[in-house]
Amino acid sequence: MTRIIGISGSLRAGSFNTALLRTARALIPDTLELGSIRGIPLYDADVEAAEGVPRVVEQLKEQIARADGLLLATPEYNNSMPGVFKNAVDWLSRPPADIARVFHGKAVAIIGASPGGFGTILAQNAWLTVLRTLKTRPWLEGRLMVSGAQRLFDQHGELRDEKTRDQLEAFIHGFVAFAQR
Ligand code: FNR
Repeated sequence: MTRIIGISGSLRAGSFNTALLRTARALIPDTLELGSIRGIPLYDADVEAAEGVPRVVEQLKEQIARADGLLLATPEYNNSMPGVFKNAVDWLSRPPADIARVFHGKAVAIIGASPGGFGTILAQNAWLTVLRTLKTRPWLEGRLMVSGAQRLFDQHGELRDEKTRDQLEAFIHGFVAFAQR
């Protein structure tokens, strides 16, 4: 059984990106588990030297290491990825000796949702540099940029737009097939 871990880059309870991931999980519940960046502290090399990698980071690292694929749902802040999300991945890349086990060759896909008109395209692009640095295996055949998100989800985070649901389904199945390879 293929295992994908999905991580949202938003801490907001009403996050469109988390809602998008939850919708994806409902499509492939046995394949997609959700990880969380909640509780990850700001990266501080002094803390790392004194105490090592925080337990919450170690747990997420293990979830990623066990998975065949990693699905990032990224918000866009100031035309890039949010600091909290990048901070989480920076911690996840520590210590360097673990990067190979956690990230090398890992199938990774990026999706994103925004109330704006461009659906996180620049945040998704910004992640590519990071994915290359970590020697992942990014899936670049599918793209999912959900724009105008406030019109597509209801107040409970349910995706109400059929077209977006179909696009998400096609994306997810394409990525799962890629992660199996
Ligand atoms: C934003 N937002 C935003 N949206 C966008 O499409 N491009 C952008 O550059 C930015 N910049 C930006 C900066 C900051 C500091 C904030 C707080 C917000 C809006 C953003 O897409 C919106 O808040 C989303 O709802 C965030 O994603 P979640 O939390 O709904 O998943």
